[in-house]
Amino acid sequence: MTTHRPTGADIPRPADEGGAEWMLPDEATLNRLAGEFFSALPSGSAGLPAAPVGVSVAQPDLPTSPPNVGVPSPSHAATSAGPQEVSGAAPHRPDASAPMPTTAGAPGFAAVPDVRTMVPSPGVTGVSGTPSGGKGEPTVPGPTPSGAQGLSGATPPGGPTPEPTVPSWGREVPMAEATSVPTQPDGVHYDPFFTTLPSLRDVLSPSRFPEAAAPAAGEPSFYFLNSPGAVASGRRPDAHPPFDVNAVRNDFPILRERVNGHPLVWFDNAATTQKPRSVIERLAHFYEHENSNIHRAAHELAARSTDAYEQARNTVARFIGASSPEEIIFVRGATEGINLIAQTWGRKNIREGDEIIISHLEHHANIVPWQMLAGETGAVLKVIPVDDNGELLLGEYTKLLSDRTKLVSVTQVSNALGTLTPVQEIVAEAQRAGAVTVIDGAQSVPHTRIDVRSIGADFFVFSGHKLFGPTGIGVVYGKSEILQDVPPWQGGGNMISDVTLERSIFQPPPGRFEAGTGNIADAVGLGTAIEYIEHIGIDNIARYEHELLEYATPLVANVPGVRLVGTAPNKASVLSFVMAGYEPIEVGKALNEKGIAVRAGHHCAQPILRRLGLEATVRPSFAFYNTCAEIDRMVAVLEQLAVRTPR
Ligand code: ALA
Repeated sequence: MTTHRPTGADIPRPADEGGAEWMLPDEATLNRLAGEFFSALPSGSAGLPAAPVGVSVAQPDLPTSPPNVGVPSPSHAATSAGPQEVSGAAPHRPDASAPMPTTAGAPGFAAVPDVRTMVPSPGVTGVSGTPSGGKGEPTVPGPTPSGAQGLSGATPPGGPTPEPTVPSWGREVPMAEATSVPTQPDGVHYDPFFTTLPSLRDVLSPSRFPEAAAPAAGEPSFYFLNSPGAVASGRRPDAHPPFDVNAVRNDFPILRERVNGHPLVWFDNAATTQKPRSVIERLAHFYEHENSNIHRAAHELAARSTDAYEQARNTVARFIGASSPEEIIFVRGATEGINLIAQTWGRKNIREGDEIIISHLEHHANIVPWQMLAGETGAVLKVIPVDDNGELLLGEYTKLLSDRTKLVSVTQVSNALGTLTPVQEIVAEAQRAGAVTVIDGAQSVPHTRIDVRSIGADFFVFSGHKLFGPTGIGVVYGKSEILQDVPPWQGGGNMISDVTLERSIFQPPPGRFEAGTGNIADAVGLGTAIEYIEHIGIDNIARYEHELLEYATPLVANVPGVRLVGTAPNKASVLSFVMAGYEPIEVGKALNEKGIAVRAGHHCAQPILRRLGLEATVRPSFAFYNTCAEIDRMVAVLEQLAVRTPR
């Protein structure tokens, strides 16, 4: 049995990287070799046809294209069916063997320990103005245990739970236990529920220390190819290899960088993520073998680039559970996506006196476009408040809804605090009020399984660069029934089906929204990034990142003078904090001196920081290539700062 290859693994590489065997000879060479081969056969074989050699690079699961000779099509190797999958009722997912939780209860979002019980100091103090019915608002239920079961068996870093039947995320952490700093136990532990996921103990084992395991420069190394367990275990080709953070790290060349004499620690993943080699090589391959404008010319390269671009659309549709690739619009990023919705659907449908609801957690990208629209139309912007932990007050939300509500647009994960919002419930309530819904998925897509049909929103936006893909590419998902009635935004080429000097007829979606030459190569790169994630398994990623957050939270909280900012029970990736005696930027610079990259500032989310009485925080944010050893390095710097706190 062979294990299937990852995205980009088949990309021809320069000979000096040992990739020469993947390069197809040109056609003339193949024909010459074929001639030599057949002439060397015994005479009885002389009649065998030689012609097919060199043109038989069949890709049966490509629906339309001419043969994409020499083009890597890892998606075809990595998935058992082609793009038509996305239009079926139950699209195939490469990691379908894993449980398919609802988004609100996704395992990556199960609760981290409640740091309020962990921090003996006063902890978070919020600004005034919290409406009644704070945390624990009963009107909208939170994630269900069944939806979050992926974590229920997780052993916390401090040791086994005393009550194994109680999910670790669901129990209150006793103060004595909570305030103890997690130790780094020896040995290897495997989660009883998810045996493929190494626990933190495994990660922390010195023999698996990532820095020690850094691959030699130039060593071709793809996680999926190199993981011995992937083959030795006799797994089905469509199953995931065991998660091995060291192997994953080998796929990200930039993680070998040194900054100020130290190995780079990339804890600025909420700002942008690093790129696996497969994505980097896919971009190079596009420009070396496929580069052309799309949809226009009758030549070979136009066919290749069009195929690659549309294949990326199919991949996105599959990844987020869209009904059809026609529901996927490529834009520059989540910001452009929200602006597109505001300027198209919004201008058509929002009138004076209508109400638009956002939340206090929003990134500026989900505030400013709606302010602009409200300013143009006379609509009113309403805001779902949060409590002092940064959790949405859903009881207040339901009070805001009325027949004047035309749109509800909220984030699924706060970029500044990491708070997870219960988008399914928010959407369901909005729909009961007859409102259209937009979900900003920029910070959620990299960390948990997304199923847009389960969420039920009319629109869902995200950025490629936060999903290990290139910058300058993002996605608007829109339900087909709503996109049909949405007017175009920009006019120009590609988005029309016919133009006279008197009028233009527009393409159906998604072409209608993609005027001009788009970011073709980076869309292709995004498709490759998604295939990489699919191969690791988004549920593996969610669980591992949750463990990182669970490990880091008490360590950082217990540094003298640290105040965590954003202490909602359900969080993803982000650990914002401030430190007594230091401006956030000073902490950021001290970390940078040791090679550790965090964002320090307002994170383009000033309203939520001001709600919590702040202008800026230090914001480490984790991805699946981070380790507990890296967290330890960060905490050591913070402890040094604490010792010499200027008072
Ligand atoms: N929105 C990105 C961040 O949160 C840039 O840092």
